Amino acid sequence: MLIGLLYSRIRRDEKLLLQELRDRGHEVAKIDVRKQRFGLTDAPDDLADCDVVVDRCLATSRSLYATKFCEAYGIPVVNSADTAETCADKVQNSLALAGAGVPTPATDVAFTKESAMESIEAFGYPCVLKPVVGSWGRLMAKIDSRSAAEAILEHKATLGHYEHKVFYVQEFVDKPGRDIRVVATDGEPIAAMVRSSDHWLTNAAKGAETAEFELDAEAEQLVKDASDAVGGGLLGIDLMETGDSYTVHEVNHTVEFKALNDAVETDVPAKVVDWLETKAGAKQEVVA
Ligand SMILES: Nc1ncnc2c1ncn2[C@@H]1O[C@H](COP(=O)(O)OP(=O)(O)O)[C@@H](O)[C@H]1O
Ligand SMILES: [Mg+2]
Repeated sequence: MLIGLLYSRIRRDEKLLLQELRDRGHEVAKIDVRKQRFGLTDAPDDLADCDVVVDRCLATSRSLYATKFCEAYGIPVVNSADTAETCADKVQNSLALAGAGVPTPATDVAFTKESAMESIEAFGYPCVLKPVVGSWGRLMAKIDSRSAAEAILEHKATLGHYEHKVFYVQEFVDKPGRDIRVVATDGEPIAAMVRSSDHWLTNAAKGAETAEFELDAEAEQLVKDASDAVGGGLLGIDLMETGDSYTVHEVNHTVEFKALNDAVETDVPAKVVDWLETKAGAKQEVVA
């Protein structure tokens, strides 16, 4: 089997994946998206023969376009361009979850600082302001007061990039000092962990402590529904505990799994490759 890997930097996650693929005797075509050129009709040589391509681009814009090109060339790619598009943007992510009836934090989107201020006042304090594109907890604001809100909104409106002119305001969920990260393939959980921190941001990238977490039936169902809501794939689903239930705050499409692999007994890269083999098999069947 020939697996294409779209990447710009080989992090520990990609190393884990590459090692597992090689251990199983698969061939890998590493495609550095910084060097690759994509024409409108014919697949570049490196891509043409791949049974499946795995998108591991760090930059969202590259991920969005590179997956589109793979699909235009008729090469199976995970995740799909549609899934990437939905997950790459927190507004689309939230709309997809809410549209599928998956519990997700109450969220308002506003386009001016005046209307964003109205949303903030309506949610009350604290509430949360997030950039619509981004990860690792970057540029997230927990807003404790009207004066803090005014300052943050003015900074965003004045200094911000295009994406910061969209104000994504969310209710603050009083979670128990931790959230839950599940890595799943087409809605089937591979493993889950809790990420605990004294800080309100509990991203592993922010140094949260991690521990294996056993999903109950309700959480498993939410993982499945959240995955379906964004079109499936290899996903990182983030949930918060709300006391008697859960809320899904986002679904990530180029999910990191090194922290999860360290936290759990399950061999996460092996499970990812099991799933990739089914995706590549699908192409081989069509060709045959
Ligand atoms: N509405 C919220 N209420 C309380 N905590 C939140 C809320 N949204 C996010 N968080 C915390 O912030 C972290 C990062 O938020 P998230 O939406 O996942 O953004 P990112 O894409 O940067 O990971 C979450 O893991 C969680 O700990
Ligand atoms: Mg997150």
